[in-house]
Amino acid sequence: MSEQTIALVTGANKGIGYEIAAGLGALGWRGGVGARDRERRETAVAKLRAAGADAFGVPLDVTDDVSVGAAAALVEEGAGRLDVLVNNAGITGSVPQMPTEVDPATVRTVVETNVIGVIRVTNAMLPLLRRSSSPRIVNMSSGVGSLTRQTTPGSDTGPIAAAYTPSKTFLNAVTVQYAKELRDTGILINAACPGYCATDLNGFRGVRTPEQGAAVAIRLATLPDDGPSGRFFDDEGEVPW
Ligand SMILES: NC(=O)c1ccc[n+]([C@@H]2O[C@H](COP(=O)([O-])OP(=O)(O)OC[C@H]3O[C@@H](n4cnc5c(N)ncnc54)[C@H](OP(=O)(O)O)[C@@H]3O)[C@@H](O)[C@H]2O)c1
Repeated sequence: MSEQTIALVTGANKGIGYEIAAGLGALGWRGGVGARDRERRETAVAKLRAAGADAFGVPLDVTDDVSVGAAAALVEEGAGRLDVLVNNAGITGSVPQMPTEVDPATVRTVVETNVIGVIRVTNAMLPLLRRSSSPRIVNMSSGVGSLTRQTTPGSDTGPIAAAYTPSKTFLNAVTVQYAKELRDTGILINAACPGYCATDLNGFRGVRTPEQGAAVAIRLATLPDDGPSGRFFDDEGEVPW
């Protein structure tokens, strides 16, 4: 089996996910570019390869069991194992998201991608991660999902939202549950907040670059074997739940 570290990043065709793939590629890793749209995926892979990264495309829609199963089969066939999974794909969902007027379908759609998508991809990839000597999982969360921050006066956690914000709180809780179950396996799983980055997700209103947002995920993807698990970090350190 290859000595090269093998990674898979979901939603890697643009934004923060693309920059995570680029950053891991710069480390000499072989990187699966998970993306649901063929053209966007191929364009991203070509760009990453042109920059010197050992990138390969992985057709992947995190909401689709068949797609996720096929993605796991593709990684197994091409690499035989997976060392690092970055669950980055995410959506905000349509507005309005005020709790009193939100369409339940919006909440369902956002949770399906941001939470159930992570569970679906993680569980499909776990057999491959278990073959790694230093497996890592990074879940792209957001500081807006921090209940501590939401209930701390003066703390900015974005607009009131019944779908996106709670989906990240839910993802944080799921991350903790995985860490508890996987405690004795060597698999380290953590949640990351990239900060407010200029991407499609927010109409490019963010104040950080996607590259800056990728840094925390790259750090958690490269944790040493005695590193933390079941915790939540941004660039400045630990984020409160
Ligand atoms: N930007 C920020 O300020 C910020 C702050 C905190 C947390 N985050 C989190 O960071 C992550 C990346 O966000 P971003 O800002 O880079 O957003 P983005 O530019 O909109 O990128 C989102 C990525 O997720 C993919 N995606 C969405 N639904 C998918 C699905 N069903 N299957 C597979 N891929 C899917 C998108 O693919 P398509 O191109 O096909 O749509 C795209 O590649 C998200 O989890 C987001 O919640 C972002």
